[in-house]
Amino acid sequence: MSTFVNDDREMPRFQVNRSAMVDPEVFALERDKIFNHSWLYIGHETELPKKNDYKTRKVAGRPLVFARDATGTIQVWINSCPHRGAMLCREDSANARFLTCFYHGWSFSTAGEMVSMPGDDAYGEGFERPGLASPAKVDSYRGFVFVSFDPDIVDLKTYLAGATEYIDLVCDQSEQGMEILHGTHEYSIKANWKLLVENSMDGYHAVSTHQRYFEMVLAARGKLDPSALADSRGIDLGNGHAVIAGAPATEGLFGRPLSDAGAEERAARFDRFRELYGDGWVDRMMGNRNMVIFPNLVIIDLVMGVVVRKIDPISPDYMEVTAWELAPPEEGDELRKQRLDNFLTFWGPGGLASPDDVEALETCQTGYAAARELPWSDISRGMNKDINSTTDELQMRTWWRRWNELVTGERLPVETKAPLDEMFRAERRHRSTESTNA
Ligand code: FES
Ligand SMILES: [Fe+2]
Repeated sequence: MSTFVNDDREMPRFQVNRSAMVDPEVFALERDKIFNHSWLYIGHETELPKKNDYKTRKVAGRPLVFARDATGTIQVWINSCPHRGAMLCREDSANARFLTCFYHGWSFSTAGEMVSMPGDDAYGEGFERPGLASPAKVDSYRGFVFVSFDPDIVDLKTYLAGATEYIDLVCDQSEQGMEILHGTHEYSIKANWKLLVENSMDGYHAVSTHQRYFEMVLAARGKLDPSALADSRGIDLGNGHAVIAGAPATEGLFGRPLSDAGAEERAARFDRFRELYGDGWVDRMMGNRNMVIFPNLVIIDLVMGVVVRKIDPISPDYMEVTAWELAPPEEGDELRKQRLDNFLTFWGPGGLASPDDVEALETCQTGYAAARELPWSDISRGMNKDINSTTDELQMRTWWRRWNELVTGERLPVETKAPLDEMFRAERRHRSTESTNA
């Protein structure tokens, strides 16, 4: 049995050892075995609309520059000068033809080539001028750009496995290509990063933790039927990725509709999608979904908003979170207003839901100080069932088994479940090419 995961198929029961949430050695192992060998999300292509736009980002502790070069190509550079290491770009975001180091003035193009070095006659004729360094791999799927520090990792699409289908369900919601809206939510949580991974696809906590939020939605909408959640599934997407997916009936469960204006526009857009993609696929699009792409990217589509969330482990008991809103650019003012309101009032760090989650996670972490006396957490819900819903925990077990495999080398078999019914299987009629954003 693994030190960290007790996957008992007989009882059945699945437990995770709390040492995985507090132990600095486990944290170091994760850095090496997981973050040095996965595809990690850096940002979305639409965050760099113009040539020579850049953003500075941290991925797996590394300072990076996420840029679009002068030819329009997406580039990722290590944000450290090849001379003696100073940070090249010190702004969160900017547009610049040259990335110039402030320390001694070495300057580079956004394509990573050295442009000038002051006083270069003091270097020999044959001196090789260094360019910028980059992560071993950079690739994108439908606008989502990932990097990997492992030169031998499988290609991005193979890595994403079944997650591509759920990215498609989100990205197909725009005829022009979904875009990241201006502005981010940035907050931190005094808890282990894996707790937010679990929480991001935890349907079980919704009604108890977010009772106030649902009361507010009930008051705003006049009706609310959480039993619609029963018509949902927890799904293993392969390679540690997992999703909880709601049927179209869950469409109206979340969000604060400020007015009915916009409903018609939305319906018309989805009618066009029906012609384009077929009913089965559009029905799936209209449901909601919370997906975790292993290890630390979350995409949550609750119809009233789509959140892209990047979780950064900082220490065993501290994480940083960045969240963006993804939207169809063709959306009219009223729908956009509602979307932004929901992004703030549901997901915002001072909203009506996220602070409750943060509180829950931080109290878990506090409790883990007694991990020696109470070593195991339970993630067994639904293990005895053939069909797993949103309120079960199959999706978390899926993620943890992959975590366990990478950290300990022990591969645990997947759970065999009943095949998904048509509602969760329907395919898109016309598949567009996977590498475009449209
Ligand atoms: S460290 Fe950048 S120019 Fe010297
Ligand atoms: Fe929550």
